[in-house]
Amino acid sequence: MILGVPTETAPDEARVAVTAETARKLVDQGHTVRVQTGAGVAASVTDAAYEAAGAEITDLAGAFSADIVLKVRAPVDSETALMRRDAVVIGLLNAFDPVGLQRLAAAGLTGFALEAAPRTTRAQSMDVLSSQANIAGYKAVMIAAEKYQRLFPMLMTAAGTIKAARVVILGVGVAGLQAIATAKRLGAVIEASDVRPSVKEQVESLGAKFIDVPYETPEEQAAAEGVGGYARPMPQSWLDRQKLEVARRVAMADVVISTALIPGRPAPRLITEEMVMAMKPGSVVVDLAAPQGGNCPLTEPGKTVVKHGVTLVGETNLPALVAADASSLYARNVLDFFKLICPDKGDFRIDLEDDIVAACLVTHNGEVRKK
Ligand code: NAI
Repeated sequence: MILGVPTETAPDEARVAVTAETARKLVDQGHTVRVQTGAGVAASVTDAAYEAAGAEITDLAGAFSADIVLKVRAPVDSETALMRRDAVVIGLLNAFDPVGLQRLAAAGLTGFALEAAPRTTRAQSMDVLSSQANIAGYKAVMIAAEKYQRLFPMLMTAAGTIKAARVVILGVGVAGLQAIATAKRLGAVIEASDVRPSVKEQVESLGAKFIDVPYETPEEQAAAEGVGGYARPMPQSWLDRQKLEVARRVAMADVVISTALIPGRPAPRLITEEMVMAMKPGSVVVDLAAPQGGNCPLTEPGKTVVKHGVTLVGETNLPALVAADASSLYARNVLDFFKLICPDKGDFRIDLEDDIVAACLVTHNGEVRKK
């Protein structure tokens, strides 16, 4: 097969879908890999590195005219116009965006949205949400430490003692867990909240304190169990009690990192304006839910703003700020998924009996696939 690797054009994007390492593996499997010139530069992969791995360097049209286009972000109209009607595109295709999917279907493309893969053991090596959220959690703490005008660790010096930073993590999925681990390494004191009860043990094993909000009704308990490992919207009664607990912690916090999400829905509002007003001047909120509307209504997606003396970071693409490592993990995810539709020595095939392939296939034969 001929595989195309275009340069990503979204303004905040620095990642690339294939690295020199994965290009070599694809070439070894007998494929032709055509990389647009400069596609990997922002992720520290040079054209020379791709060439040394056996890939060909091409132009924009060359990358998009391939049988299978490997991307990070969904192609825009000017890009789909360069693709063949029966071509395949693999990437983060926004599985919850019906309008965008309809555009891909109308262009005749077979689209695989990697973020739609199930969170199962077999799918772990191609789990782009995990690989990228892990990096986002780390980078969120790095940004918070940089914006915060004090230190994270407790320091006892001849000039006096500096108190450890208090960090509150809201939402303890993959990003939240990595944020806890990273803040812990920096010496912070950490408390964390999540709706899912299974998280408590993980939080405590990382040396943080879980903000317990007990379930009072079977309905609350059932909602907290979630579906497919994901959170579901919680009943208002539980959210009201959680808000009181979180508000007390946020008022004492120096840094809040919020990552709370419910797939396909606007982010839950966990940090109100009143809570921000109660925070100490110089505190920092890093809102990872910014692309889904934010866990805090004061967050401005894509911007860092200061409101009521608190710095609110609304970065919408944290993994792209660590583009080299984010790309190497993403590219390995892509490679592992690719093997499901193009096995060693096998031809391209769509096996709908395979739960991962079936979940990721979002457009085919000119239609958006119903799930
Ligand atoms: P996510 O990015 O969808 O959400 C982040 C976190 O926000 C979740 O932990 C969620 O419970 C929490 N949240 C939602 N509403 C909240 C609220 N009102 N207050 C506080 N927290 C709230 O989650 P992510 O990181 O994608 O993980 C989703 C699930 O998938 C988790 O159960 C995770 O353990 C599981 N998973 C399983 C894998 C596997 O078995 N292969 C791999 C990776 C994740």
